[in-house]
Parts: sequence; C-alpha cells; structure tokens
Amino acid sequence: NYRNDLAGETVLVTAGGTREPLDPVRFLGNRSSGKMGYALADAAARRGARVILVSAPTALRAPAGCELVPVVTTAEMRSAVLARLSETTMVIKAAAVADYRPHAEAEQKLKRSGPLTLELEPTNDILAEVVELRRPGMLIVGFAAETENVIVHGRDKLLRKGADAIVLNDVSREGIGFDSDRNAVTFLTRDKAIDLPEMPKRQLADRILEEMLALRRPTRVM
Ligand code: PMT
Repeated sequence: NYRNDLAGETVLVTAGGTREPLDPVRFLGNRSSGKMGYALADAAARRGARVILVSAPTALRAPAGCELVPVVTTAEMRSAVLARLSETTMVIKAAAVADYRPHAEAEQKLKRSGPLTLELEPTNDILAEVVELRRPGMLIVGFAAETENVIVHGRDKLLRKGADAIVLNDVSREGIGFDSDRNAVTFLTRDKAIDLPEMPKRQLADRILEEMLALRRPTRVM
C-alpha cells in the first residue's frame, strides 16, 4: 500500500552468494540464501521501480516484475552490474560477494591425496568500482556482514567504500542474517545510525527503501 514512490527509478539489486570454482564439481561459497536481496527487489518493484536483479545462485523464484540476471562468480556479477550501471539510479548491493577466488581452476576433479593447500587471489571490489563510476543523483547502498565490533567495522567500510549508506548486519546474532526470514540491521550513513529492529526481511526491505528515499530529500537547515 505504498504509493508509487519509486516510479521512474531503475533499482539494481545484487543478491545471493557468489561461487568461485575450485574444479569442475567444487566451489568456494558462502551462506547467503538471497532472501534479503530478493525481498528488496520485490519491495522496489511493488513501489513502481524498474528492477534489475543480478543474482548469484539461490533456491528462490524471482519476484514478479523484476528483470533477473543470473550469475555465478564474482567476475560475472561484476560484468553484469557494470554493464547496466548507465541505466541505474539506485544500486543496492545485498549480495555476499567472495573476497577471494582460487588462483587457478583445476581442469579435472581434484583427487584426494594428503593435505592440500589452495592459493587464493583477491576478487575485484564491485562496490568500490560502482562508486568510482557513479553518475550525479545515483544512490549507492552496500551491505556489511560483520561478526564483531559491528558499528566500528561498518563505519570503516562506509568511509572506505564511499557508498551513501551501509546496511549493517550482525551475523553473529542467532535467528537473523544469513538464510533466516528475519533480519535486524543498522542503516549507517555518514551522519546517522538508524536501528531497524528485528522484523521479516520483506518488511525490512521497505524500511531500507524508505531510508534510501530520505537520503534523496534535501535536509532542512534551521
Ligand atoms: O542472503 P541472505 O541469506 O538473506 O542473507 C543476507 C546477507 C547477510 C547476505 C546480506 O544481508 C548481507 O549482509 N550481504 C553482504 C554480505 C557481505 O558480503 O558483506 P561484506 O562485508 O563482505 O561486503 C561489503 C559490501 O561490499 C557488500 O555490499 C558486498 O556486496 C560488496 N562487495 C564485497 C566484496 C567484493 N569483492 N565486491 C563487493 O561489491
């Protein structure tokens, strides 16, 4: 029952956990289910936005009215995001992106024989690249999954990455965060930290969009 308050916006949401192949049958992955990103895509579409959902593998069905761009690896997610950036007015990076990938993918299935050492190399930081390529008026929101000193690390990430806001998850808390249907976050901007208490991810998605829209409104100077 929101008004069409996102009409005219093109919202690009990333969701799910990227997978980095080790060999033809194995990958390095993470626990993201995609639920938070899909909830955001659904909420934005219901509010009248055009929605591009760049999704790593999940067990979820794409919300109605979203343009689904399926990807697997961080490199694929990066290309998909950068290719659509010129059409985008709001970027929401809810995906859990691999920070490292195997230096080389084995051509054949790795055989078991004693200890194995994997050489990893860093992936590209998609959020940082998006910030570099931002156009005037574009809103960029990242997520951060932290397990300790949540606010300190979140603030550091916000400043380092140069996004307009970081949605901070304390993934050490039980019953919220990865794979859960509920979440509790702090919406962190340069001058505010807004606590959004535990609620269903779909409801939280609307709250996050409201906070994003509030960033668009000029602040009144008394
Ligand atoms: O998918 P669910 O099961 O619903 O769980 C939701 C969630 C916990 C995965 C989600 O809410 C969340 O916190 N996503 C971000 C997790 C994460 O990867 O955090 P990070 O601190 O590693 O990354 C910070 C930001 O940089 C993220 O917006 C991430 O998309 C981005 N990033 C990270 C690495 C990289 N190489 N490129 C990036 O763009």
